[in-house]
Amino acid sequence: MSNWSHRHILDLATFSIEDYTNVLELAKRFKAVSTSGTRKLPALQGRLITTLFFEPSTRTRSSFELAAKRLSADVQSFSPNNSSLSKGETPIDTALTYVAMGADVLIVRHSSTNVPGELAHYLEEAGHNTSILNGGDGLHSHPSQGLLDLFTLANFFSPNEPIPSAVKDKTIVIVGDILHSRVARSNLWALTACGANVVLCGPPTLLPEEFKDFVKAPPPGQKLDPIKKRGQVTIMRSLKDAFQEADAVMTLRLQIERMHQNLITDLYQYHCEFGINHESLKWCKKDVPVLHPGPVNRGIEMSNAILEDDSICLVSEQVNNGIPVRMALLYLLAAKEN
Ligand code: NCD
Repeated sequence: MSNWSHRHILDLATFSIEDYTNVLELAKRFKAVSTSGTRKLPALQGRLITTLFFEPSTRTRSSFELAAKRLSADVQSFSPNNSSLSKGETPIDTALTYVAMGADVLIVRHSSTNVPGELAHYLEEAGHNTSILNGGDGLHSHPSQGLLDLFTLANFFSPNEPIPSAVKDKTIVIVGDILHSRVARSNLWALTACGANVVLCGPPTLLPEEFKDFVKAPPPGQKLDPIKKRGQVTIMRSLKDAFQEADAVMTLRLQIERMHQNLITDLYQYHCEFGINHESLKWCKKDVPVLHPGPVNRGIEMSNAILEDDSICLVSEQVNNGIPVRMALLYLLAAKEN
């Protein structure tokens, strides 16, 4: 395995091809261990992994906790509802409390963009060694989801060798509420880095034209893109046109809780235009897989029938792959000096 240089994992915009290769290679090995019956490895024995989720979560948090346990780490978990946040403690002071208990990795989710980044900066300035792993911040970034989606697609296109180039020249159509989706943003960095072309499809209120330039400039504070040549990003407003190109389809939840205006007037109409069902999938090539990061609004982003159709729906596969991918990330951060 080649070098790993990241002390924190905040955003996939900083990932090189070697980084993606390392994560996918380790995830493949951890997945093989899980299915071989061994399940638990001693790799992170004595390490302390803390999940600090200031925003609700089902999949991400449980799968990080399970991943940490599978690597024999100690696991602590923080919930805002029964914490000292209600007594006025700030997120930074909450994090420092867990750092003082010896956390090696803090997995942080927050509804505001860049809280994990600010925390990482603060801890470094204060001389702490704790790594920050972004579990999803505002609309900005959700690196572990982007990586597990990449792993799922790489496994689909190349089951024996799920390496980054397995998605090269494939067209991945991402449908729906791109504007509010940190998952879409992380997927854009990951997929284009590995040479996939991404077609974004949705109504203008949820998919502004600017997204076509999303990966063209490195984000603020980062001088150079570590990827020499990325795949293309295009926008299509018609699902029928987009589906004709698709090698895989990913649909996203309508994030009503982040919509401050009425961006969607009629959910039924939305499903008719952008919903994934067996009818709309007829516009695709045969057996094109469907992904969704969850949680799914049944009957809106996709029909019940698609969600229950194991021959094309990879939603459970994504959840399952989340464990080895998160084991890989924790291993790379917390076993770094081994
Ligand atoms: C996503 C998230 O929280 O960003 N879910 C997830 O982590 N699996 C997407 C969403 O909430 O719709």
